Amino acid sequence: MLDKRATGALIYGAPAPGLIEVPAGAVQLSPLVPGSTDVAGLPDASADSVTILAPPGTLERDFVLAQALRVLKPGAPLVAFAPKDKGGSRLKKALEGFGCTVIEDARKHHRFCSATRPAKPVGLDAAIAAGAPRIVESLGVWSQPGVFSWDRPDPGSLKLLEAMPALKGRGADLGCGIGVLALRILASPAVMALACADIDRRAVDCARHNLDDPRVVVDWADLRRPLDGLADLDFVVMNPPFHDGGAEDRALGQGFVATAAAMLRKGGACWLVANRHLPYEAGLKAAFATVTLRAEGGGYKVYEARK
Ligand SMILES: C[S@@+](CC[C@H](N)C(=O)[O-])C[C@H]1O[C@@H](n2cnc3c(N)ncnc32)[C@H](O)[C@@H]1O
Repeated sequence: MLDKRATGALIYGAPAPGLIEVPAGAVQLSPLVPGSTDVAGLPDASADSVTILAPPGTLERDFVLAQALRVLKPGAPLVAFAPKDKGGSRLKKALEGFGCTVIEDARKHHRFCSATRPAKPVGLDAAIAAGAPRIVESLGVWSQPGVFSWDRPDPGSLKLLEAMPALKGRGADLGCGIGVLALRILASPAVMALACADIDRRAVDCARHNLDDPRVVVDWADLRRPLDGLADLDFVVMNPPFHDGGAEDRALGQGFVATAAAMLRKGGACWLVANRHLPYEAGLKAAFATVTLRAEGGGYKVYEARK
């Protein structure tokens, strides 16, 4: 279904204040902002302008640029920008590859590329197909370039799966991604219900395909706050994020720990994997009655924390 909000100004991402002027009322397209509009649902040649904080991955970036050029009216302006060392220096070439004439500008460690939508952009369909959701054969599940570890299992998640016993009761998978951990959790018939959530709409869409099970609900949500209505859970499982917008953000993982503690019943278990260098132990000990290191190796630590 096409989205009727497809006119006016569009913005992809959340630029730091003062970096660039974003038109008032611009419609947010980033899949990392819960509630935002999916650019794939917007009609062709319908938007007046687009401003893009371009993501760093090549397939993801080209998908976003191609979708933006598809939805822009011919002649309408596009500004794409990114930190120089996170794909900014490759933006001009990428846009020229779609047939744009680009003016490039450098400031505040970013590259800014301005263009207008050519009358006949080239290569849009191929870039959109290359960045679209699909079944990744090596994983056997739906995924999409740009989501966490999109085309291979994460070694930290594998470590957690090795160490975790079959679970039972009602639980949650926080930051579920495409559902790699949830698939294993659901293999236990003693699991009665599983609430999955992630901030990335693309991951949530894939997880909804991958976890086609009446015990599962998948939410698109920011887990720095507990999910409404979820309490007294028997277990929580997570491989928490420690990056926000490309920068290491330890508070994010600690926020997940607090969310897990708030959602569990007394005696409920939180299974967590983390990179060995990240200081989770103090946060876990503050929020839980017991914290046990269950496995260590390959640069990861797996904890079982009981409330
Ligand atoms: C390390 S990945 C783990 C993904 C999946 N559980 C797995 O093991 O493959 C962390 C996940 O947390 C999500 N995430 C990051 N920040 C978040 C937030 N504030 N709220 C909810 N999810 C978030 C990311 O999109 C990502 O899918």
